[in-house]
Amino acid sequence: MSPTTTPPLSLRGLGATVPDGREERVLFDGVDLDVAAGEVVVVTGPSGSGKSTLLAVAGLLRRPPTGEVVVAGQPTASLSRRGRTAVRRQQIGIVYQSANLLGPLTAREQLELAGRIRRMPRRQIGAEADRLLGDLALGDRSGQLPAELSGGERQRVGIARALMGDPSVLLADEPTASLDPALAGEVAELLATEARRRGVAALIVTHDDAPLRHADRHLHLVGGQLVDGTGVAS
Ligand SMILES: Nc1ncnc2c1ncn2[C@@H]1O[C@H](COP(=O)(O)OP(=O)(O)OP(=O)(O)O)[C@@H](O)[C@H]1O
Ligand SMILES: [Mg+2]
Repeated sequence: MSPTTTPPLSLRGLGATVPDGREERVLFDGVDLDVAAGEVVVVTGPSGSGKSTLLAVAGLLRRPPTGEVVVAGQPTASLSRRGRTAVRRQQIGIVYQSANLLGPLTAREQLELAGRIRRMPRRQIGAEADRLLGDLALGDRSGQLPAELSGGERQRVGIARALMGDPSVLLADEPTASLDPALAGEVAELLATEARRRGVAALIVTHDDAPLRHADRHLHLVGGQLVDGTGVAS
């Protein structure tokens, strides 16, 4: 396959279980999904259906009991924990429900830290942080601490941080849930626009309508299966 057609994120026959008393309960099984470069896929589903678990498995934070996560063409099932961490650092950016910023660090320092964790060349880190802060309209906020930022600004810093080092995959778990509807719309649009502009494969799980309005594809996780979500309310 040529690199241009390899999807940055490919889930193949993916399963997940969770402990349930002494047993393991199957959350989902046989999930197949390709997310193309620049494509925004939004997954909805009832609370407890396994959306966050799906994202954790796709983000190589949890090893699936069955199936395979292929990131930028690289199969990960047989990698060690360290190997999976390396792939995650190189290829995957993650955005959380509340931005999960570190209290004592300025907006720019949050991005610089991400750059160091991702082992970006030292001299690129500052320039890339400034470029991303500018792209996300945070240029004049770069010296502020999280407590000095609004909720929408914090979430934008979280998105900028996730994009440090040019990941090929962007994962977001309820990225707009802690925002009021107007800000939720802005942040969802920004996520989708940046993913498309950078050719990043974006997988967003949500309860919220806002990300759905900017989706290229809507899937619904229900009964352990990922199905077409067209017409399903979030
Ligand atoms: N580490 C764990 N141990 C035991 N049960 C777990 C664990 N992680 C998740 N679960 C259970 O797995 C199910 C799916 O959880 P998950 O967080 O993936 O759902 P979700 O679809 O993201 O829900 P929500 O919409 O409420 O965020 C839930 O029933 C949850 O209680
Ligand atoms: Mg969840």
